[in-house]
Amino acid sequence: MARVRTGVLISGRGSNLQALIAATRAPDHPAEIALVLSNRPEAKGLDHATEAGIASQVVDQGAYADPDRSAARAAFDASLTGALEAAGIELVCLAGFMRVLTGDFVAHWRDRLINIHPSLLPAFPGLDSHARVLAAGGKLHGCTVHFVREEVDNGPIIGQAAVPVLAGDTPETLAARVLAVEHRLYPACLRLVAEGGAEVVDERVELPANQDGDASLMQPPA
Ligand code: GRF
Repeated sequence: MARVRTGVLISGRGSNLQALIAATRAPDHPAEIALVLSNRPEAKGLDHATEAGIASQVVDQGAYADPDRSAARAAFDASLTGALEAAGIELVCLAGFMRVLTGDFVAHWRDRLINIHPSLLPAFPGLDSHARVLAAGGKLHGCTVHFVREEVDNGPIIGQAAVPVLAGDTPETLAARVLAVEHRLYPACLRLVAEGGAEVVDERVELPANQDGDASLMQPPA
């Protein structure tokens, strides 16, 4: 079985990367992580790639400090695409990649670029979602894996996992509860996309009949 060559873009800790690496080690997983790219040389997640024997590269955003910011962003994103294509990457996962990508990059990878966001989108896009859910008195929180569109934290939803907000939660305790389900949801969604089971129709993901309403994406299996 030819597995889908997948690139993962990170900026930091890389715990979702670790979950993706662990899941794709299973011989029946339809994706393989073939390249890890970081925009920051100090990203801890790079160590996970090295430990797993996976190729990694830094495309250092510090090297792209152009006075014309839009030219710098275009050049940076073109370098990302160059590195991904040189490695034969077919599908790209954003996993804590803390940089807004250009419209050109997003268009180039349309429906082959997915992201995980720590909220139940379309609620709470953007930063500090855990603190904002607490401030709003939300009772349910979670994470979303979606195809990337130019508008940040927007795009057809592939899967979501929900967790309760508990009395006494802090942004940290809530983040930890969400992160545990992120690590289950992201590999499950990558599997779905790599199998061709997450087709975008009219900007919605139509899940195959046997997946529609499947509780496994609400509480994805470990
Ligand atoms: C995760 O919470 C993810 O949802 C968000 O950034 C965080 C990355 O964490 N996009 P890690 O680097 O995967 O540990």
